[in-house]
Amino acid sequence: MTSILFGILLYFATLMFVVGTLYRIGTYTRTPAPLKIPTTPAPITTGGVVLRMMREVVLFESLFKANLWTWAAGWLFHASLALVLLRHLRYFTEPVWAWVAFIQPFGMYAGITMLLGVAGLWARRIFVERIRYISTPSDHLMLALFMVIAISGLVMSFIEHTDVVAVKGFMLGLLHFAWLHSDIQTLPSNIVLYLHLLMVAVLLMIFPISKLLHAPGLFFSPSRNQADNSRDKRHISGWAKQLESGK
Ligand code: HEM
Repeated sequence: MTSILFGILLYFATLMFVVGTLYRIGTYTRTPAPLKIPTTPAPITTGGVVLRMMREVVLFESLFKANLWTWAAGWLFHASLALVLLRHLRYFTEPVWAWVAFIQPFGMYAGITMLLGVAGLWARRIFVERIRYISTPSDHLMLALFMVIAISGLVMSFIEHTDVVAVKGFMLGLLHFAWLHSDIQTLPSNIVLYLHLLMVAVLLMIFPISKLLHAPGLFFSPSRNQADNSRDKRHISGWAKQLESGK
């Protein structure tokens, strides 16, 4: 019964995550960017913009220049999260790809560095007065969610092991819609695993209505995605072009 409830919950959460995030990205694409406002010094070609964006995504370059402590905690958290998520691919693929097998040990320790990163970001919100003042409950909620997910994951990895083969069987069953031929595998009954999955479902569901949208949002930021070419090319947004041509 618990397995069926978790199955339904995970399907529902994934649906909300995919549809909600696509909807949000749709609104971002339609939002006009009437002004030419790249943060200077900025690249003057599209290739340069792509390179700058890549440095932003991989290295968090502008945060590095702005605040070294926030950068250190933020980068540690995000890089570790990426590794942890890639390590999780083993629960969804059969056979497991060689590179996923290779990163397993790194991914396991990345769970610890992810937790350290979240702790650093949370300490900043609590102890830096300026930041405490502007922090909202949702800022704390997001950090709490990641913390509970990381701790419950680490408990399963290092202390109270769960049957990962059964977890994989359950996940693959969901992916292949095995329940259609009533062939659903059950989840191991483990309270830590239930907590982990419940929090992951909450994370997926609130993603499209949360600050976590900064992930896709970064790519739509005019101050980062524009080239500094206003002397060569007139900047005019789509709706203004329509006004000019009298349509
Ligand atoms: C439905 C999706 C997920 C499933 C089935 C799942 C399952 C698991 C399992 C079984 C473990 C224990 C691994 C072991 O014993 O070796 C684990 C660990 C962990 N999980 Fe998840 N998890 C999911 C999603 C996530 C997400 C979205 C995050 C992060 C936001 C996350 C973060 C972690 C961390 C930090 C660990 C500890 C480090 C590690 O072993 O990788 N999990 N997860």
